[in-house]
Amino acid sequence: MIEPVVEIKKLWTVFKNGDKESVIHKDLEMTIERGEVLSLVGGSGTGKTVLLRQILGLEHPTRGDITVLGKPAAELGARGAASRVGMLFQQGALFSAFTVLENIAFPLRELKVLPPNVVREAAMVKLQMVGLTPDAADKMPSDLSGGMVKRVALARALIMDPPLLLLDEPTAGLDPESSDSFCTLLRALHHDMALTVVMVTHDLDTLFELSTRIAVLADQKVIICDVPKEVVAFTHPFIHEFFLGPRGQRAMELLREYPFTV
Ligand SMILES: Nc1ncnc2c1ncn2[C@@H]1O[C@H](COP(=O)(O)OP(=O)(O)OP(=O)(O)O)[C@@H](O)[C@H]1O
Ligand SMILES: [Mg+2]
Repeated sequence: MIEPVVEIKKLWTVFKNGDKESVIHKDLEMTIERGEVLSLVGGSGTGKTVLLRQILGLEHPTRGDITVLGKPAAELGARGAASRVGMLFQQGALFSAFTVLENIAFPLRELKVLPPNVVREAAMVKLQMVGLTPDAADKMPSDLSGGMVKRVALARALIMDPPLLLLDEPTAGLDPESSDSFCTLLRALHHDMALTVVMVTHDLDTLFELSTRIAVLADQKVIICDVPKEVVAFTHPFIHEFFLGPRGQRAMELLREYPFTV
C-alpha cells in the first residue's frame, strides 16, 4: 500500500481565552496522497491556516495525530522542516531588510552546513525556477510587485526541494493576470518537482485550475474531501453559498470548462 503523505486522525484544536474555550477542529480527519493538489476551503476563521501550521509542525493540536511522510508532524519542528515541507504563508512574509536572494537562501543559510557560494548558487537556481530573472536577485522586497513577492516566497519554500508544499491563499490579492500566471507556474512546478500540494484558497479559478481534490472545512471538521464535481454536488449550506451563491454562475461555467481529469 502506498503511504499517504499527510494523515490526520481525530484532530482536536481548542483555544482557551480566559475561561472561554473555542473549538476550532473537532475529530477532523483527512488523508493526502502522493502527487495530489488538495485544496482546503472553508469560511474565514474555520482553522485552515492553523491546520497548515500544524502540518508544518509549527503548532500542535490539542488532541489527535498528524503524520507527515511517515513521521509525527510535531517531530518536524521549526528547524529542519524545510527539507520535508515548504510553506507559502498567507501574508507573503518576506524579510523586508533582506534582498530577494537572501530571502530565498534563508532556510538553507540557517542550516549552516553549506558554504555561502553554494547557498547563493542554490538560491539563484530557485529564483529562475519561479520565473524571475537573475537581475531580481539584489532587489529589496519593497521594490517588487505582488506577483513577484509570491514568486520569491515560493522560491524560498522550495529551496530545499521538499516533497510537500503548503500554500496559504497563494493567489489572494493578485490581479487576474498575475493570478493566472502564478497558477501556471504552480502547475508546472507540481509536475516537474513531483510535489504533493496542500493549498488553501478562496479563489474559484485557482481552485478549479489546480485541485485534484477539494476538502471542505465546516462544522469543525472536513465534511467532504473528493473530486471537484462531487464536492460541488454535496448538500451543505457552506458549499451552496461558496459554489452556488452569487458566484455560482461562474462556478458552473468553470465546471463545464475543466474536465477534472488532472
Ligand atoms: N494562537 C491562537 N490562539 C487563539 N486563537 C487562535 C490562535 N490561532 C488562531 N486562532 C483562532 O482560530 C481560528 C482559526 O484561525 P485561522 O487563522 O486558522 O482561520 P482561517 O480559516 O485561516 O481564516 P481565513 O480564511 O480568514 O484566513 C480563528 O478564530 C483564530 O482567531
Ligand atoms: Mg487563514
